[in-house]
Amino acid sequence: MKESKKIQNEKIEALLKELTLEEKCRMIHGSEFFKSGDVPRLGIPKIATSDGPCGVRNDFYPDRWFVIGSSADYVSYLPSNSAIASTWNRELAHDSGMVLGREARGRGKDMILAPGINIKRNPLCGRNFEYLSEDPYLVSEMVVPLIEGIQENDVSACVKHFACNNQEFERHSVNAEPTERAFNEIYLPGFEAAVKKAKTRGLMGSYNLVRGEHGSESRLLLTDILRKKWKYDGLVVSDWTANHDTKDAAESGLDLEMGITDNFDEYYLGMPLVRAIQSGEIDEECVNEKVRNILRFLLRVRKIDIEVSSTRGGKTTARAVEVPDRDPGCYNGTIMHSYARNTADEAVVLLKNEKKRLPLKPSQTKRILVIGDNANRAHANGGGSAEIKALYEITPLLGIAQEYGGNTEVRYARGYYVPPKYRERENWQEHSITDEWGADFADRDKRKLSAEQRKATKALKEEALRLAAEYDDVIFVGGLDHDFDVEGADRKNMKLPYGQDELLNELLDVNPNIIVVMVAGSPVDMRAWKDRAKAIVYMSYNGMEGGSALARVISGEICPSGKLAETFPNCYEDTPVAHFGEYPGRKLTAAQKKRYKACAYTEEYKEDIFVGYRYYEKFKVPVQFPFGHGLSYVDFRYEGMELKKKDHTVTVSVKLTNTGIARASEVVQLYVGEKTPSPENPVKELKGFEKVELKPGQTKTVRIKLHLKDLAHYDGEAGKWVQMHGSMEFYIGSSSADIRCRKELKI
Ligand code: GLC
Repeated sequence: MKESKKIQNEKIEALLKELTLEEKCRMIHGSEFFKSGDVPRLGIPKIATSDGPCGVRNDFYPDRWFVIGSSADYVSYLPSNSAIASTWNRELAHDSGMVLGREARGRGKDMILAPGINIKRNPLCGRNFEYLSEDPYLVSEMVVPLIEGIQENDVSACVKHFACNNQEFERHSVNAEPTERAFNEIYLPGFEAAVKKAKTRGLMGSYNLVRGEHGSESRLLLTDILRKKWKYDGLVVSDWTANHDTKDAAESGLDLEMGITDNFDEYYLGMPLVRAIQSGEIDEECVNEKVRNILRFLLRVRKIDIEVSSTRGGKTTARAVEVPDRDPGCYNGTIMHSYARNTADEAVVLLKNEKKRLPLKPSQTKRILVIGDNANRAHANGGGSAEIKALYEITPLLGIAQEYGGNTEVRYARGYYVPPKYRERENWQEHSITDEWGADFADRDKRKLSAEQRKATKALKEEALRLAAEYDDVIFVGGLDHDFDVEGADRKNMKLPYGQDELLNELLDVNPNIIVVMVAGSPVDMRAWKDRAKAIVYMSYNGMEGGSALARVISGEICPSGKLAETFPNCYEDTPVAHFGEYPGRKLTAAQKKRYKACAYTEEYKEDIFVGYRYYEKFKVPVQFPFGHGLSYVDFRYEGMELKKKDHTVTVSVKLTNTGIARASEVVQLYVGEKTPSPENPVKELKGFEKVELKPGQTKTVRIKLHLKDLAHYDGEAGKWVQMHGSMEFYIGSSSADIRCRKELKI
């Protein structure tokens, strides 16, 4: 039976009273790299945290950045957050979260440092693969079930990185300056949904600054917005070594300072804070508030209960006790892998399919040539803190071979040469707070190959070209890897590395029917060959079953149903961040330096709310593939759109028919905009979506309900939401650029 908040708070107060100042400060900073401090005297345990969004990271020594190397920390490798978002399936987001939370608990953790939900403002951002989308509505709709799934397991999610961690370049010192409107319409909604709807028990501050304050000790973010405006009473943890000042950290809404250095007692919230309180510089109540949140966290994840007993003299004593029936969790069960597979299946996006080049039916396919390093590459153990030890990972090549079986010969040619992984150092995180570490990657795509590496490259290309002429069915699997999609570094451009463009064009000369698969955590520039390729499939880092999901789509066992959760622009130069020229941030003026003491670069988000498709549509910039795009093997008929306004809601309905011969799913998307868009507003914005599975020939009426208050824009000057009115256009589409029906409604 759920304990009342009042009783819970009384218990917390009773235990708080028992703690000394030193003990309280021990609890509010790391005592190990991934654990907080404990107070054994009162039975108060450490909080055990672990990365990350794709699975539960392997264990490190408590105070050294070296993995323990135990065989007991192999885990399920889930599709990355960008893959989960590509499913546009709320149930799969929940199931992925449930697996992540179940495995975190199974591995003895209390908080999984996931999901990452920063807005994909810039396609070059190294961590886009860990994030969901460019659109705040899609982020909000997917993050809520994801966190709810995680938190079903007596553990906590930790939604991150709050806020505006939209680039990796100078991530510790860049200062983000979003406009008030963009801040409220684009960058905050996902976090607000995580706090208010998903009731996330944990949230992580960011490294970067927002309006001059570091995200992990920001009064604006952690006190004014999170604690006061959103009434958040969950746990706030810093990013790792993201704090810079004892007073700021103590007096902000931060609860727990974590770090990558082993001088734990000297952390800002450690002995420096004890001394500052003893000297009267800082009020002890700051610590009490943090300890309350930590105890509440421990109660919520059922790691402790608090026993309060009254002594003869009427005094009360309290201590923390274990909860005997806490969920034990589990990991690596086959049920987990089937959930990972369900999500992976729906994360594969069919971008192009001229003349029904796909599917490649096994019964009609006797030989397949698979070309490309990414066909054979496992990605789990890369990307930075999202790296994990996957129990297994089915590569595209393995997936294809097992899907087609013994009657189809599957031949492999690597095609292009990839130099050894750029960052072999397992203790990379020890260096991860210096921006120089990210700069390491600056020249990765211009690495000078040695003579023998150049020879290898030539031989691999010749072999691929020779074989491509001998096979009717050729599948090229290329894209990026975690030397490019990686924490701490942004890409320099959207180009494909390792000479893939040139190779692909030469391959298409030899065999124009090549099927191209791009595996990448963020958009890539395909213009060099996109018009020549008949079929193009995209998938992000799609988990342990990614290769088999891809193969099932290619073979036609399942119809593709993924949709892009971010726009694929033609090139970086076409993006809003390039157009307005602020990225990667400007050196500070002398005046700004006075105000923003801790940052080296400041970046005004001059594109305002025009992020992603909002920009490309408004400024009529052509793109490779639009937001929400994804083909199926069947066609869907949309008809009979209706709008029903009742009180303050509008219900949009449309009849959807599967006109094909296979079972397939479609994501019906609802966009809304002013009939005549005013200059300061986007043409239209995503306001609803439903994913619907239909048997061949089946028709379903799809209904999407929205509240008029959601048709609003934020007035930065007035500091409030203003509902839109007048003639509004409701668009129903299969993507943001494939509108099937539309209706006007006066509001
Ligand atoms: C890293 C990342 C954060 C991660 C944490 C612990 O620097 O920014 O996402 O959870 O530190 O590894």
